[in-house]
Amino acid sequence: MRTEGDSWDITSGVGSTALFVAAGRAFASREPDPLASDPFAETFVRAAGPEWEDLLDGLVADHPLTDPGFGTGFQLYLAARTRYFDAFCDAAIESGIRQVVILAAGLDARAYRLSWPDDAVVYELDRAPVLDFKAKALAAAGGMSRARRREVAVDLREDWPRALRDGGFDPSRPTAWLAEGLLPYLPAAAQDRLFESIDALSCRDSRAAVEQTEMLSPAALEEMQSYADQNDHGRAEWVQLIYNEPRNEAAAWFADHGWDAERTEVDAYIRALGRTPPTPDPSASLVTSLISLVTATRS
Ligand SMILES: C[S@@+](CC[C@H](N)C(=O)[O-])C[C@H]1O[C@@H](n2cnc3c(N)ncnc32)[C@H](O)[C@@H]1O
Repeated sequence: MRTEGDSWDITSGVGSTALFVAAGRAFASREPDPLASDPFAETFVRAAGPEWEDLLDGLVADHPLTDPGFGTGFQLYLAARTRYFDAFCDAAIESGIRQVVILAAGLDARAYRLSWPDDAVVYELDRAPVLDFKAKALAAAGGMSRARRREVAVDLREDWPRALRDGGFDPSRPTAWLAEGLLPYLPAAAQDRLFESIDALSCRDSRAAVEQTEMLSPAALEEMQSYADQNDHGRAEWVQLIYNEPRNEAAAWFADHGWDAERTEVDAYIRALGRTPPTPDPSASLVTSLISLVTATRS
């Protein structure tokens, strides 16, 4: 259960979700023709300790990420969303944007993976222990950022714009904002404040890419819980980490605030990439049909 001001590191609470999705990206990157490839994901996961190394080395018998009911579809969804946000960054750079803010960066390695012009600045926002883990893992692996990368340790439920500005962010320059895998971990009111801050800090030609998940129905929650009760690797604990409450829909919010917004259902995106979306399975807590991707541009 979440509480106001609760905290975490990379292996606990909400922080562990960054490790979980990085492990999913590591598996997805091993596919023969991956939709996206993130070689740094494996580096991060191995740095998290022997049990994570064992998972990558196929030595863990029972884990959601390798469970055919959940893992295969989850890896496909992660690869698709990685590709969507990668394409968003590439298009933003192509349009002349040189300032990028990754909200809840977790173990996002785009500053290291993508091709950035020399004058691009990438701000990575997350809680301090998550950023510390990431910096140590990258330093140990000898990773070199391809963009000017600035870490900003914040709680996104609080006054993060001040910390961002103190870190050198310039609101008079067009910005590309990324919110990937973040919204369900924010209360609905904090999501509204997040959108309001993006809006207030964005000049003309700024862009935002946002992943959003619809609220889980009581029946889906019950099904997940009963699956978790019967299986060691149930993901019911994930439900304890999210704020499953009604919230504003991102495309509508941005459109109402003068942005041009386009929403893509993740399953449609997977199909457009020539793959078959996972079969909805609430018991395995994988319902990609509830997930959509929104890109908004401030004209
Ligand atoms: C599922 S991970 C996604 C990480 C990354 N965006 C990705 O897609 O790989 C969720 C991330 O949100 C961060 N996060 C959630 N709530 C936050 C908050 N209130 N303040 C700062 N970071 C937060 C967590 O620390 C974690 O790194």
